Amino acid sequence: MTAAMEVPVVVTSVAGLRGFVAALRSQRPEARVGFVPTMGALHDGHASLISTAREHAGIVVVSVFVNPTQFGPGEDFATYPRTLDADIALCARMGADIVFTPPVEEMYPVDQTVTVHAGALGEALEGAHRPGHFDGVATVVTKLFQMVQPDVAVFGQKDAQQLAVLTAMTQQLAIPVEIVAAETVREPDGLAMSSRNRYLTPHERQWALAIPRALEAAQLAARRGVSGMLSAAEHELSATPQVNTSYLVAVDPTSFDSLPADYSGPARVLIAARVGRTRLIDNVLVEVLAPGVAR
Ligand code: PAF
Repeated sequence: MTAAMEVPVVVTSVAGLRGFVAALRSQRPEARVGFVPTMGALHDGHASLISTAREHAGIVVVSVFVNPTQFGPGEDFATYPRTLDADIALCARMGADIVFTPPVEEMYPVDQTVTVHAGALGEALEGAHRPGHFDGVATVVTKLFQMVQPDVAVFGQKDAQQLAVLTAMTQQLAIPVEIVAAETVREPDGLAMSSRNRYLTPHERQWALAIPRALEAAQLAARRGVSGMLSAAEHELSATPQVNTSYLVAVDPTSFDSLPADYSGPARVLIAARVGRTRLIDNVLVEVLAPGVAR
């Protein structure tokens, strides 16, 4: 590797990736390798994942791969935004060292008959609406971990169920990668940043604000117990009928188990909703107080 090497290095093959990671590791033996897996169409939320990775590691690898195995039939795999040049420019601005952007044949050179099953956690909520989605995510992230061999990987809390599945996966399969959870980045009006926001028309973009408003309502009502909190969020959502709610739930933040009515403690309130043809997800962490509990 030469001193004039361009940053980031863009590699498309697993062999090339391994070569560059090994070279950087030998140049900077003290540095940890931080990894940010993405599907591209990068925005400020991803930029924040990359800067979090940079806080934890001296070498940062970003993957850009639209993973076909996590999309169901009729979902947006074919039309998912692909903006590689802009993605590389963002990675350069954020100081990533390597961008790994393999073609599908490099990630799946043979029929993938061996897969990671995400279990019950992967079958609830998003998994119930998108059967097989989390098996696809768990399998591709396992493969990416084997290819990059990072010390630490960063995932956004916006995809809270994905984060829970991948945290459980690394623990239960003894994968030696530290998982770091990064805060959700929001637009100034509260909408959580997502690559799919670009599908929204200007009207839909306004209607979609009912989702962060509902989460805020839940946060404000968290001292009214689980059902009071969910009613407050539901009230906010129902004021915008163009937002078609798939689920609004409060769950245990780690197990994603549903919560009893008299629950007090940390909870994650999750919303999935369709606005026009776009499915959006968002969530917030709250501290619930059961009614009647002294405050
Ligand atoms: O969150 C995503 O963008 C994807 O699910 C991931 C983790 C990159 C796996 O394809």
